[in-house]
Amino acid sequence: MFTQTDRSAWICGGEIQCREQPAEVGRAYHLILLGPPGVGKGTQAELLCSRLGTCHLSTGDVFRAAKDAEDHQCSPAIRTALEAMRRGDLVSDDTVIDMVRERAACLKCRIGFLLDGFPRTVEQAMALDSLLTDLNLDLDGVLSYELDIDAIVDRLSGRRTCEHCGAVYHVAARKPIVDGVCDHCSGALVQREDDRPESIRVRMAAYEEKTRPLSDYYREAGKLVSVSAVGTAEAIFARALQTLGV
Ligand code: AP5
Repeated sequence: MFTQTDRSAWICGGEIQCREQPAEVGRAYHLILLGPPGVGKGTQAELLCSRLGTCHLSTGDVFRAAKDAEDHQCSPAIRTALEAMRRGDLVSDDTVIDMVRERAACLKCRIGFLLDGFPRTVEQAMALDSLLTDLNLDLDGVLSYELDIDAIVDRLSGRRTCEHCGAVYHVAARKPIVDGVCDHCSGALVQREDDRPESIRVRMAAYEEKTRPLSDYYREAGKLVSVSAVGTAEAIFARALQTLGV
């Protein structure tokens, strides 16, 4: 059963503290998930976090939560990001890096982290390297999920997300017990705005141009671990655990 750790400090930023955390923590893993939109990073993050006891730090989740936040709850970096999104622009590297720096305490958290959606460009990766050096932390690995484009489009067009806790489902491959209702918190399942066909095309093009070069960056650093994302979520999860030696 998926038990999400409280991510208030990551999602809200500022002085917000997380409510609860596991009393016992084993090894604190420091991992990055890489891969195109829809390859299944969020789904794998849920499984990995449940197993490794670590926290899912998704920049996409921060942006989605910020859209519903009051202005006084937003940090300067989040305000700049929201302005860019309202104009229809991509959020700049500098803004995303500032947003992650504001949440540096989450990187230092004793339960470790699983970064999803950051870094997304080589410039963001270099900034993360320097932040981790300042915090005296080392990456355990960068899991890079690989899948062909047709399967990705199928996964994205069938995705449904819990509007309350963010748990991820698929209309055919990962159904909830009750149609339209989250298994974990009974929240409503909705389709994400950016899962429309025209948005998917824009996101895939941005991925190829800006994020694909990150594979080489982390391969050269000796951190890249390729994982085939073909098959069921559980099969992919088992493959990743094997590569991590867990
Ligand atoms: P973000 O939320 O990070 O989106 P993404 O990277 O595009 O990834 P997705 O969440 O779309 O897909 P996923 O790989 O997590 O797939 P999932 O597990 O849901 O970012 C959103 C936006 O924010 C970005 O586009 C960007 O604009 C902005 N942003 C974020 N970070 C940024 C940054 N650092 N810099 C600048 N901008 C940034 O799975 C997809 C579907 O497939 C689900 O329905 C799932 O149930 C299903 N599925 C999963 N596994 C399987 C399987 N094995 N078999 C069949 N179906 C499966």
